[in-house]
Amino acid sequence: MSRSTLTKFLLAAAVLSSANAYFLFGMNNVITTERIDPIVNPGKVSGHVHTVVGGSNFRVTTNTSFLRQSECTSSPIKEDKSNYWAPTLYFQWKNGSFTSVSGAPVMYYLFSDTPGVTTPFPDDFRMLSGTPTLRSYNASSYAQQAITFLCLDFSGTSTKHNELPTTDCPSGIRAQINFPSCWDGKNTDSPDHKSHVAFLSGGPDSGSCTDPAFPKTLPRIFMEMYLDTGSLHAQRSQAMNPSQPFVYAMGDPTGYGYHADFIMGWDKGVLDKVVDKCQCTSAAFGDPTCCSTAGVFTFKQGGTCRITKGVDEITTGTLRSLPGNNPVVPLNGQASNLVAPVTPALISPVFAYTGDSPSQTGQPVGPPVTVTPGGPASVPTSGSSAPSTGSSGSSEKASGSASSGTSSSGSTSSSKDSSPNPPANDSGSSPAKGSSSSSPATSVPNQGSAPATPPNKSAVVSGSSNHTCQKKKTSHSKRAHRARIHDSSRRRFSTPEERFLDNDF
Ligand SMILES: *[C@@H]1O[C@H](CO)[C@@H](O)[C@H](O)[C@H]1NC(C)=O
Ligand SMILES: *[C@@H]1O[C@H](CO)[C@@H](O)[C@H](O)[C@H]1NC(C)=O
Ligand SMILES: *[C@@H]1O[C@H](CO)[C@@H](O)[C@H](O)[C@H]1NC(C)=O
Ligand SMILES: *[C@@H]1O[C@H](CO)[C@@H](O)[C@H](O)[C@H]1NC(C)=O
Ligand SMILES: *[C@@H]1O[C@H](CO)[C@@H](O)[C@H](O)[C@H]1NC(C)=O
Ligand SMILES: *[C@@H]1O[C@H](CO)[C@@H](O)[C@H](O)[C@H]1NC(C)=O
Repeated sequence: MSRSTLTKFLLAAAVLSSANAYFLFGMNNVITTERIDPIVNPGKVSGHVHTVVGGSNFRVTTNTSFLRQSECTSSPIKEDKSNYWAPTLYFQWKNGSFTSVSGAPVMYYLFSDTPGVTTPFPDDFRMLSGTPTLRSYNASSYAQQAITFLCLDFSGTSTKHNELPTTDCPSGIRAQINFPSCWDGKNTDSPDHKSHVAFLSGGPDSGSCTDPAFPKTLPRIFMEMYLDTGSLHAQRSQAMNPSQPFVYAMGDPTGYGYHADFIMGWDKGVLDKVVDKCQCTSAAFGDPTCCSTAGVFTFKQGGTCRITKGVDEITTGTLRSLPGNNPVVPLNGQASNLVAPVTPALISPVFAYTGDSPSQTGQPVGPPVTVTPGGPASVPTSGSSAPSTGSSGSSEKASGSASSGTSSSGSTSSSKDSSPNPPANDSGSSPAKGSSSSSPATSVPNQGSAPATPPNKSAVVSGSSNHTCQKKKTSHSKRAHRARIHDSSRRRFSTPEERFLDNDF
């Protein structure tokens, strides 16, 4: 590891103001970008689009044992098949259309320097940090302090904000969120997915677990999402709101509704070793190879892990409206957790695939996995917390539209998928997609300069439409691609192959 890399790690970590042991790792890629949230909306299409990283068994319903069976993970730590997700960011044009902004996260795990103090996440542990409906800032709320936005300027000074910055950030925006790290010691979930955990005594990143109701210290997860807002720099004047053109998937132009979710998917026993044998502390500047050298886990960057779509809906590229038709609710407005009454079908089975290029050249790994959405399995059974998860699970499932959508999708897609061609490699990867796929997270932790060059979304939007239209022969990939760019009103995939191709950066 080069000196400049270490310096970068150190700078990145400075915002954490923590004396704890920690390590950080950039996700190799985003596994999917979809309206799925197995914590908040188990078994059905969720209210807004999320950018998802981690284990390939991410589904509308999932749990720790299922995640551990993932065929691959986008984490460079092979034993980490957890899922982490956050709302996807869009750029809104004057005419009201939205273009997705690419981004991928760097994850931090922070824990005590003293072995025995930090408790690893128990199986089926899950939690949510942040509140999607917030559109205002309460400076005394730890939960809101947990969310910050860095306006990145790698050749100048980066500035920290409590909301989406209203200036053009030369090197992009980094959305940052802390998860609570004090636990009640009993429940792996709670009805609001928050009240079984609490923030540290001094705020989201300082103090300790002093509240007797939350005595257990968990590893603290901190997520930095690098957003390629810079690629839309030239289009800023064409935005609906040129001073702050971005809108989160739940219709949030403020950033106060930013949030992130976590489901425990580490291989059995590995986190126990992490918290007790991985006290690499500041001498290693958060370098995870310290833990891999100690034999605690396997750290290997590179490669990709993706899954095919589980929801029949195009979520990236340029779209007429936010998926779910979420209205944009401005500062101090009243937002609700809308789930549109008509939701797209769920698709099953879902394939996991790996490969260094975008989806067209990916290789399917393992068998396709079908999960019965909305069935009994969708209620997370989590031992001691059964009452609370049970109640939230059943109320979520009460909606009739979700279950009807589910059953129809099940039958349609299983017939479509009975002869699943492997992810088509026929089309030759489009150059534009190729450029967009160079994962930001791969590069972020590798080289100090890398965060300045996340994937260039504008190349996808402007360059590739030209490319596809010049070709006479229309492959599935080209059709899917064109659909994203020219026909944002067509939201569904017309062939099973297309859902391999709406790739997620
Ligand atoms: C975990 O999820 C899988 C897939 O949905 C399901 O088959 C299994 O029953 C679940 N296990 C538990 C303990 O809930
Ligand atoms: C809105 O404007 C953008 C940028 O010019 C364009 O890509 C998109 O197709 C337009 N949407 C509609 C519905 O015309
Ligand atoms: C702001 O947050 C504090 C701490 O959580 C809380 O006590 C207070 O009621 C909140 N204020 C408003 C207006 O929500
Ligand atoms: C693409 O598909 C062809 C035939 O389907 C196969 O022979 C070839 O090995 C595949 N190439 C890659 C890169 O997967
Ligand atoms: C993105 O691509 C466009 C078109 O290829 C180019 O003009 C622009 O400079 C690129 N932006 C970045 C940040 O690389
Ligand atoms: C689009 O194609 C035309 C004709 O081939 C070419 O002149 C133009 O430069 C292309 N535009 C882009 C953005 O590639």
